[in-house]
Amino acid sequence: MSDEVKGKVFDHLFTTKGVGKGTGLGLAIARQIIVEKHHGSIDINSTEKEGTEFVITIPVRNRVFFDIL
Ligand SMILES: Nc1ncnc2c1ncn2[C@@H]1O[C@H](COP(=O)(O)OP(=O)(O)OP(=O)(O)O)[C@@H](O)[C@H]1O
Ligand SMILES: [Mg+2]
Repeated sequence: MSDEVKGKVFDHLFTTKGVGKGTGLGLAIARQIIVEKHHGSIDINSTEKEGTEFVITIPVRNRVFFDIL
């Protein structure tokens, strides 16, 4: 991915697929579930025209548990 694309992949409706092909919702929804619901993180390792790796980190216990401590 180019740096420009990398900066937008989690935006709602952002897609580089053709008209009628992609909704641009896949990664926005994935980010919502991982970051907002599970308080985790999603990171991108990407080399343009070679490949992309998404690294997902999700805490074992809910953050609310730690807030109480
Ligand atoms: N594995 C990947 N490698 C390179 N670029 C990716 C990858 N996954 C997503 N992208 C880039 O991020 C954009 C947004 O991805 P997202 O999953 O949100 O929507 P989409 O794949 O375009 O559409 P949909 O998920 O609805 O089919 C893609 O259009 C593409 O440019
Ligand atoms: Mg997708």
